[in-house]
Amino acid sequence: MTTKRTIRYKSVETKYMEERAQALSGLLNLDRRSFVKASLAAMGAAAAASLDTPFSFQPIRMAHADIGEGFRIAYISDSHLYERDLNDRFVNALLRAVDDVNALDPQPDFVLYGGDLAQLGQAKELDLGAQILKELKAPVRMMVGEHDWYLDMGEKWRALFGEPNYSFDHKGVHFVVLNSVVEADFWTARKMSPMERMKTVAGLDNGWQSSFTVGDAQREWLKTDLEAIPTKTPLVVFSHSPLYKLYKPWNFWTDDAEQVQAILKRFQRVTVVHGHTHQLLTNRIGNIHFHGMLSTAWPWPYAPEGLPELTVQMARPDPFNPQDGCGDGQIIVHPDGLADKLYNLWNRNPVTVKKTYLASKGKTDRPEGSPRSSY
Ligand SMILES: [Fe+2]
Ligand SMILES: [Fe+2]
Repeated sequence: MTTKRTIRYKSVETKYMEERAQALSGLLNLDRRSFVKASLAAMGAAAAASLDTPFSFQPIRMAHADIGEGFRIAYISDSHLYERDLNDRFVNALLRAVDDVNALDPQPDFVLYGGDLAQLGQAKELDLGAQILKELKAPVRMMVGEHDWYLDMGEKWRALFGEPNYSFDHKGVHFVVLNSVVEADFWTARKMSPMERMKTVAGLDNGWQSSFTVGDAQREWLKTDLEAIPTKTPLVVFSHSPLYKLYKPWNFWTDDAEQVQAILKRFQRVTVVHGHTHQLLTNRIGNIHFHGMLSTAWPWPYAPEGLPELTVQMARPDPFNPQDGCGDGQIIVHPDGLADKLYNLWNRNPVTVKKTYLASKGKTDRPEGSPRSSY
């Protein structure tokens, strides 16, 4: 005789898995209704895993009260999406970022997506990312990362999002978006397949791949683009890799950084915002203020050398929490062209790095760092 067992209580894991399944089924046909369902499920999954923060939005309101005539941009980056049936954790993380940004009131003027939308540049990964980003209420501007590009040399990315370098003006600020992950051909001589090339670029610097650059052609384009822009115009440049040399063995590096900095030198107020390094980084070189932004997928540890001294390190003390050290952010562009950046680390209080901190080279307004040690 067999006995039928009735399960009365669902474990946290069971609920979590059911919510994940619901989130993914919502993504199969991502119209507005199913997206809301998918987003709610993703938020539920995050809550079940104790990833939710009750503090996300309060400091954002405070920052908003502060901006005067300035405006805000939201920043989402480095989602590294796999196909949804291979990995849904990163999908949920991007859904969470979209939700966080959609909940802002008022909405940011636009959202900058900072690159590495895909993990291995595959059409399904990029399509999935494009589908999710379409749900942002604010207009979206795209930047490319190396993970998006080196399977088909940007063919799919360009078909979805257009050319990777462009500029535009917004409320008196000149914005430039660069493709800073241009590599010299290391694959033809080695007879690499497209996927071998992609995986080589996706790895750390193994001595095979070339360094990231902005490259001769794009530097010429940048010079021409900036020719007619008065020196006093505030300038904000988005690049995927940092436009300075941080740590080459991990490709935290742009090889022609000094040449790009030289092009930007005549401007009085320049802010460079980058992704790629998946961590809080703050730097100032002459007239240029650099802000490294968060990934939604995973945090990198800090490099063993070269950390910019203005960086207020984020602590990532919980190895069992895969979202620890991830998040999205905001750039608050002030009328004088300089920017505050706000990091929305998902499981702690957001951190604001004020323009005055960089302008004073760290003498005033040092943001409060975590009392816990970083790795
Ligand atoms: Fe990345
Ligand atoms: Fe990257």
